[in-house]
Amino acid sequence: MEIARLAVVSFLLVISLLSTGDCNLVFNVHHKFKGRERSLEAFKAHDVLRRGRFLSAIDLNLGGNGHPSESGLYFAKIGLGTPAKDYYVQVDTGSDLLWVNCAGCTNCPRKSDLGIELTLYNPSSSSTSNLVTCGQDFCTSTYDGPIPGCRPELLCEYKVAYGDGSSTTGYFVKDHVVLDRVTGNFKTESTNGSIVFGCGAQQSVQLGATSAALDGILGFGQANSSMISQLASSGKIKRIFAHCLDNINGGGIFAIGEVVQPKVRTTPLVQQQAHYNVFMKAIEVGDEVLNLPTDVFDTDLRKGTIIDSGTTLAYLPDVIYEPLIAKIFARQTGLKLHTVEEQFTCFEYDGNVDDGFPTITFHFEDSLSLTVHPHEYLFDIASNKWCVGWQNSGAQSRDGKDMILLGDLVLQNRLVLYDLENQTIGWTEYNCSSSIKVRDEHSGAIYTVGPHNLYSASSVRVGTISSMLLSILLLLTVLHSFTN
Ligand SMILES: *[C@@H]1O[C@H](CO)[C@@H](O)[C@H](O)[C@H]1NC(C)=O
Ligand SMILES: *[C@@H]1O[C@H](CO)[C@@H](O)[C@H](O)[C@H]1NC(C)=O
Ligand SMILES: *[C@@H]1O[C@H](CO)[C@@H](O)[C@H](O)[C@H]1NC(C)=O
Ligand SMILES: *[C@@H]1O[C@H](CO)[C@@H](O)[C@H](O)[C@H]1NC(C)=O
Repeated sequence: MEIARLAVVSFLLVISLLSTGDCNLVFNVHHKFKGRERSLEAFKAHDVLRRGRFLSAIDLNLGGNGHPSESGLYFAKIGLGTPAKDYYVQVDTGSDLLWVNCAGCTNCPRKSDLGIELTLYNPSSSSTSNLVTCGQDFCTSTYDGPIPGCRPELLCEYKVAYGDGSSTTGYFVKDHVVLDRVTGNFKTESTNGSIVFGCGAQQSVQLGATSAALDGILGFGQANSSMISQLASSGKIKRIFAHCLDNINGGGIFAIGEVVQPKVRTTPLVQQQAHYNVFMKAIEVGDEVLNLPTDVFDTDLRKGTIIDSGTTLAYLPDVIYEPLIAKIFARQTGLKLHTVEEQFTCFEYDGNVDDGFPTITFHFEDSLSLTVHPHEYLFDIASNKWCVGWQNSGAQSRDGKDMILLGDLVLQNRLVLYDLENQTIGWTEYNCSSSIKVRDEHSGAIYTVGPHNLYSASSVRVGTISSMLLSILLLLTVLHSFTN
């Protein structure tokens, strides 16, 4: 059985505009939605009216967990449209678009094994929905210039291809997103903003599968097209957010806004990168520094280390992976290693893995480090049966060969803070079932935000490694295709 796919996602390496594509991607506004489009001026006027100085903190409802044989992903609940309906979307810091499955789409999942109810977004049943045409600002700036062959009635289309081979195609719509604004300790009120997002018209086979199916993906990248950038540019929020993915109880905390507690040490983001990349300096196994070629962390070569919540595991290039695995097993000479699903190194072990295996510490610029314990990088697939979470990116990826990518395997059970205003990222080990404190920029007040769990993770052990291992792969390419 194929394990590869599953949950999914991640990051964008290429945005390219195809001026010739297949013709079935043309959506004609007049035929389907006669009279519903609005001019760009109307959008702008609307935005100016709505723009006020009310920067606030947002509390996103989170569910899911990072265990590779359970859901392997984290998702959030957001409202879209008027009247608002709820949508469950995978949170992915490795991509830049929010999209949801739309009414009438081809191969959209109708049921999910995650125990959530799926909903199709229907632009014509939301009174605040507007289609985005190819001549509008959002479209031309997303594609970096005028769209070849654009006519006033043609919609702005998108296509996103993720690293596991899955893809979504559709067109952009603008509508209200309804979120929970933090207004007190453990207290929120509904707030909304207007954003452009993708209306999924056609999903690839993997995104249509019911295992781990969701309504869409919420890209938390820093491009102008992401929800966070759009809300920030209309003055609603600051471009700062944090997640604490709880692999013990499921769900966790996902907040937009300045986090004042816990304090985290930070490292600069590598500039001019499509993803959240940081500079790695060294790797320690136990208390020994791993001996690696000097150019292994060279940023010209490697563009840094990608931090990506949309990927379940962690990927290391051959040159790091091989010596790391050798060191991990150096003290365990009697173990019989075998490969499961052609991808995972597994073994039987009946002791406490934290006693039998070394901790691994990654060191980053500005003295930020990330210590990963054996019970975090090893996962169990049956009693006493363990597999290694580290993956060899040389063997895994196609175009992204040789990358270093840290996914939920190492990000969970930590408060990870992305400060796009200051271009830093930081983290600290944290109890994601506890709470954090955020600042409401509008009033200056500091409020406590607690964890959420949209379902009980323990009740949803959807499968074993053989049927359901999510080796979520990375998004290699994002193609925004266009047709004329
Ligand atoms: C959005 O906010 C406005 C103003 O507060 C409110 O009138 C409207 O009902 C809200 N819309 C949704 C979908 O929540
Ligand atoms: C993103 O938006 C900012 C502010 O609106 C603008 O200055 C910048 O040029 C935009 N970036 C791109 C790549 O379009
Ligand atoms: C971001 O930078 C500004 C100006 O340098 C500084 O005042 C602020 O404290 C920084 N914010 C954080 C969260 O570090
Ligand atoms: C984490 O926090 C929760 C809620 O405060 C608490 O019940 C739990 O015991 C804490 N877990 C650990 C390991 O401290």
